[in-house]
Amino acid sequence: ELEETPMELGGEQGRWEEERLKTASLSFGAKKEREQGMKQEQEKYQLILEEEEMIDFVTTAITMKGTRSEKDAPALSQAEMKKQSMQEVRRSLPIFPYREDLLAAINKHQILVIEGETGSGKTTQIPQYLLEDGYTKGGMKIGCTQPRRVAAMSVAARVAEEMSVKLGNEVSLVHDCYTNTLSVTVPSSRLKLSVLLSSSVIIIDEAHERTLHTDILFGLIKDIARFRSDLKVLVASATLDTERFSCFFDDAPVFRIPGRRFPVDIFYTKAPEADYLEACVVSVLQIHVTQPPGDILVFLTGQEEIEACCELLQERCRRLGSKIAELLVLPIYANLPSDMQAKIFNPTPPGARKVVVATNIAETSLTIDGIIYVIDPGFCKQKSYNARTGMESLIVTPCSRASANQRAGRAGRVAAGKCFRLYTAWAYKHEMEETTVPEIQRTNLGNVVLLLKSLGINDLIHFDFMDPPPHETLVLALEQLYALGALNHLGELTKLGRRMAELPVDPMLSKMILASEQYKCSEEVLTIAAMLSVNNSIFYRPKDKVVHADNARMNFVVPGGDHLVLLNVYNQWVESGYSTQWCYENFIQFRSMRRARDVRDQLEGLMDRIEVEVVSCQGDSVPVRKAVTAGYFYHTARLSKGGYKTVKHQQTVYVHPNSSLFEEQPRWLIYHELVFTTKEFMRQVIEIESGWLLEVAPHYYKSKELEDSSSKKMPRKQGKTKEELG
Ligand code: CDP
Ligand code: MG
Repeated sequence: ELEETPMELGGEQGRWEEERLKTASLSFGAKKEREQGMKQEQEKYQLILEEEEMIDFVTTAITMKGTRSEKDAPALSQAEMKKQSMQEVRRSLPIFPYREDLLAAINKHQILVIEGETGSGKTTQIPQYLLEDGYTKGGMKIGCTQPRRVAAMSVAARVAEEMSVKLGNEVSLVHDCYTNTLSVTVPSSRLKLSVLLSSSVIIIDEAHERTLHTDILFGLIKDIARFRSDLKVLVASATLDTERFSCFFDDAPVFRIPGRRFPVDIFYTKAPEADYLEACVVSVLQIHVTQPPGDILVFLTGQEEIEACCELLQERCRRLGSKIAELLVLPIYANLPSDMQAKIFNPTPPGARKVVVATNIAETSLTIDGIIYVIDPGFCKQKSYNARTGMESLIVTPCSRASANQRAGRAGRVAAGKCFRLYTAWAYKHEMEETTVPEIQRTNLGNVVLLLKSLGINDLIHFDFMDPPPHETLVLALEQLYALGALNHLGELTKLGRRMAELPVDPMLSKMILASEQYKCSEEVLTIAAMLSVNNSIFYRPKDKVVHADNARMNFVVPGGDHLVLLNVYNQWVESGYSTQWCYENFIQFRSMRRARDVRDQLEGLMDRIEVEVVSCQGDSVPVRKAVTAGYFYHTARLSKGGYKTVKHQQTVYVHPNSSLFEEQPRWLIYHELVFTTKEFMRQVIEIESGWLLEVAPHYYKSKELEDSSSKKMPRKQGKTKEELG
């Protein structure tokens, strides 16, 4: 009777095919399916989305100090009861029976790999066991690194709660606050290193995620452990790849915590789904009306998708009204305010059902109790890097089989569960990679090189990487840092490089900020840096108000390029008193602006450290554009027939249709980034003069390269811009 749920679950006639997940291995039906559609679908979804999830790669550390303050002792009886039930929960976790054995193993070995099913209690329990066993004597700390900021916060809060203490003292979260809002986070790793030195134990948690910073930590810690025999190193991982960790750490023993896992029935779609978002919404409602109680977990790729999915679900539930039981729709992603994040852990009220719509964060880092149903569209957002062009992008790609199995496993923690895969069994078998490629092999290494150099590690080629990055990526990073002036011709860090390493942003961005000192425009450049870090989500363009939104956007246009438009938006917002209403009226995303303000404040706070005075150039755009050029001269493109050509690689690129310079087509441009959708687009472009390139990067550009035979034919545009800029 329900229009919203036209298809039935299960059975031969249904949309689903069933496979049973027996413990960890999967079996497949022999059915052949029509597959032509799948490839096209995948291509369709290889769109470049927002940058939001990049901050998931933040590495954060939790430290615990041993001293319990007396003040915490007298507690209310209610709190006492809560504590008791909390202790019961602790004792019920799969890790608990192994507490003594584990502590004995840690005592015996310097390096131990710990493998256990997600949710078995590794993250929350091991630090407490160590504390109880005296590892914090003499003021030493127990450090636990987390690759994801959201998980670090939630886990630290949980540990504090279990210990009945306030977060921030005995249990604290160590990370630079500013790194939360920027994509790359070198100083947070450095900070962690200082934690390392005062730690008796360091737990590298979620090792299987193989994030960039985890991989770098592996190499650093292996080295540190050699000359600090008193340091214990624990490598905690879900049940994936543990042999490799053991092998890397000179055959360190593996401690296995046997998991408790209930069977999970796997369902595949018979044919590929054209619109996985819609398919998710339909599936949630189907489960809600046809399946027995139990909460639902949906995996999507990022904030935008998650919000869209939640809105659709809420709207449809509203329409169905009392025809269906209550459905609590809860999003979780890195940028969600923490009070909202905490909500996913609240128990579901009787009679209702909870649906948590999450990014990969819920794959292994977070455990939500009560999940019986998992919906897996089979995609994730991944960074990828082209070392030839230096282009880094975040694209939605099919996830790996290992990921898909982790996701399915989330349904079988508390009882037998079901996992609905929005792809075919054939795709699972033939289209998905076995495992995810470690981040270090698909990212720009500029920051990492800067970090390692600033730690005095000069020979990067022989650094002990678990999986070394591609040689050309490393070489390109070294070349770029040399071109930026961060390294000298011997590959040593220069004074400029040392200052750049202080900023938690991409080397090009930090160079731009440092250059603003010389051009006396740091005020403006800080704003631009902050706006660029949230750039893709500033303008709001609702489908039903496209014309209004585009007009509003046009009103912000100033000559010179998108960076200056962003600056203009920010300045007007400041004038409005940071008004929400102003954002609403001008089709600007308030949330993004608030984030930009945060980033800006944090960057401004760092100006002291790198000794840059914050001054304004009072509306003159030339210094600002020169500072941008000083950081991004690598990204120069010159107008040529039918489009633009990058100066160094002669790659054909186009101005993005959203750009303020889309129609103007100036002769020389600098782009902030390249994105590939239907063609190679430059996003966020600014007009420059070719002479500036020689001024800011004389060692990189030869004047011959910049000769422009046709420049005399079009003097008007350049002249006009200059005039307008005054
Ligand atoms: O690290 P691992 O995946 O082995 O498990 P964990 O994060 O230590 O979680 C152990 C248990 O603690 C979970 O099964 C949850 O029941 C509970 N937990 C929670 O209730 N709230 C949190 N924020 C974290 C964990
Ligand atoms: Mg964990």
